[in-house]
Amino acid sequence: MTGRAEPGGTFTMAEGLTVTRVGYGAMQLAGPHVFGPPADRDAAVAVLREVVELGITHIDTSDFYGPHITNQIIEEALHPYPDTLHIVTKVGAYRDVHGGWPHARTPEQLRQAVHDNLIHLGLDALDVVNLRVGGIDSPTPESIAEPFGALVELQREGLVRHLGVSNVSAAQVAEAQAIAPVVCVQNFYNLAHRVDDDLLDSLAGQGIAFVPYFPLGGFSPLQSDALDAVADRIGAPPMGVALAWLLQRSPNVLLIPGTSSLAHLHDNVAGASLDLTASDLAELDAIAA
Ligand SMILES: NC(=O)c1ccc[n+]([C@@H]2O[C@H](COP(=O)([O-])OP(=O)(O)OC[C@H]3O[C@@H](n4cnc5c(N)ncnc54)[C@H](OP(=O)(O)O)[C@@H]3O)[C@@H](O)[C@H]2O)c1
Repeated sequence: MTGRAEPGGTFTMAEGLTVTRVGYGAMQLAGPHVFGPPADRDAAVAVLREVVELGITHIDTSDFYGPHITNQIIEEALHPYPDTLHIVTKVGAYRDVHGGWPHARTPEQLRQAVHDNLIHLGLDALDVVNLRVGGIDSPTPESIAEPFGALVELQREGLVRHLGVSNVSAAQVAEAQAIAPVVCVQNFYNLAHRVDDDLLDSLAGQGIAFVPYFPLGGFSPLQSDALDAVADRIGAPPMGVALAWLLQRSPNVLLIPGTSSLAHLHDNVAGASLDLTASDLAELDAIAA
């Protein structure tokens, strides 16, 4: 890995946990609706190997993608893992036979999920586990103390090195922080969906990573005339511009765009490093206004 570019530069989430700010989200590597195997497993393996080849050191996943399949493909493609690579996973749901995403937040279910991730990724300990709570794409106002405490117990046992939270409110972040350190928050956020602007800024002040999920809009990628206009003017793909905006939004933002395509992976890594001018940023800021 020495001498490779570090896409987006780096961010230190905790001691021994420095990642490239441009990471990769592995959810798109499972089959349709994140259920079952991909149409082309070799292509998924190739995307993951190219992620590492490009110098990316942060991969986001979950054992409920597939389920199990995305982690198994990561293991097949990349194990034994480079020392610099950090795999971040999430727990708190499972997949039912219909492809639904029911909650799985009891201490027993969380313990099982951590073990499932360890087995399918081929690891002895997980670098970061995010507790995923809330609804489909927004937080719900329940206490997260019990499930977060269950993960702290697994951390004490050495199965998990660091903890994060996902799909949470500011109050839930504070509730978790009162129990144990939180190294990252993974919430729905992008150029057009900025409900978490205040939370992002508050985390920046604390040196905590904010990791937007659906950074490109998710299953229906962003569509915006203003984004297209800026992209046309710069001569870059719109999705690359959307990622560059995120990277310039705040130094604590880490990117985990998802793609099953080598061409999109290259566009995304190149796009993220675009240097947007103040007037580009103002035009892009207006999209969510
Ligand atoms: N914590 C949570 O609750 C949660 C929820 C959702 C996702 N996540 C994580 O966040 C990561 C990112 O989210 P996501 O993958 O759902 O959404 P995303 O990154 O916002 O967008 C992915 C979609 O954009 C397309 N795409 C990617 N690059 C493109 C490009 N350059 N040009 C055109 N289309 C492009 C992908 O299709 P192609 O495959 O064809 O490129 C895919 O349809 C996931 O991989 C997962 O790790 C977390």
